[in-house]
Amino acid sequence: MIASDKLPTTPPLTQVWQLQVRAIRLQAHGIVSYELADPDGHDLPVFEPGAHVDVLAPGGLVRAYSLASDPRDRSHWLLGVLKEPKAKSTGGSIAMHEHVRVGQLLTVGPLRHVFAMATQAKHTVLLAGGIGITPLKSMAHELVHQGASFELHYCARSAQHAAFSAELLALVPPDRLHFHYDNGDTSQGLDIAKLLHSHAVGTHVYFCGPAGFMKACAASSAHWPTGHVHTEYFKAPDSASVATLAGSFDVILTKSGERITVGPDETIVRALELAGRRVPTSCLSGLCGTCKVDYLDGEVEHHDYILSDDDKKTCLTLCVSRALSPTLTLDL
Ligand code: FES
Repeated sequence: MIASDKLPTTPPLTQVWQLQVRAIRLQAHGIVSYELADPDGHDLPVFEPGAHVDVLAPGGLVRAYSLASDPRDRSHWLLGVLKEPKAKSTGGSIAMHEHVRVGQLLTVGPLRHVFAMATQAKHTVLLAGGIGITPLKSMAHELVHQGASFELHYCARSAQHAAFSAELLALVPPDRLHFHYDNGDTSQGLDIAKLLHSHAVGTHVYFCGPAGFMKACAASSAHWPTGHVHTEYFKAPDSASVATLAGSFDVILTKSGERITVGPDETIVRALELAGRRVPTSCLSGLCGTCKVDYLDGEVEHHDYILSDDDKKTCLTLCVSRALSPTLTLDL
């Protein structure tokens, strides 16, 4: 990953809404929820379960947060934000926890659907680790609405670290909801390998959580059929790296005709920025889709964690992707 390329992010947001913070609740140790609604009481846009939104946090940082509310309830959206320790935080969660108050207006949007649910699943396994419950909670709402077959496993350090527990207990039938508390010792938690060892035909699994949890889930589901394993990473996996930094290439912006060189040690986002073309970004790690654009020509070396094989034929993430061809023509 090109960590040195991080930029302060105050991009122009499109498809945004000014939403009012209607309620703030402490959901678990270090986790606060924010209930957002239209200040005039209008319905909010429909979203698909697993969606996330960009939020312009106090101080000008844009951060992506999953929507944890019922996708069919258009009266409000619900975010869950874990306050990262200062040493690990890039500032977004601290700004949200320390500076957002009830009644405040927040700039929110656009909606992004990069962790979409399969429509033909015969059974669904939802696997949440810690704050990873947020997108999976919206999926649980939808699966309950559909009367679909599913199970939800929620792994946390303790009951005090499990957010939205009361809502989940009210929502999900007890035989489908499983809390796993490890008290800080992962060997005492859910045996993920055992859970994912076998599965009925037509089962889809979704997992979201911290790095170690994701690694265990990915390793334990490696034998599952392609397209049946769905992930949302909060951070790029430790092993991630941009393998081919050597060499520069040019991007051609089709709308303006500009040609901009991307150096061997910089990202497309950075090269565009240096040329005076700021594009919306958030994670800068290929995780959120904020910088996704279409390309019209060239061969892309993808390094994101969100685009499907089909998506990769037409679009790329500017923050991590590079070119395998001398030029890339972007729909910019
Ligand atoms: S900024 Fe998140 S994928 Fe590029």
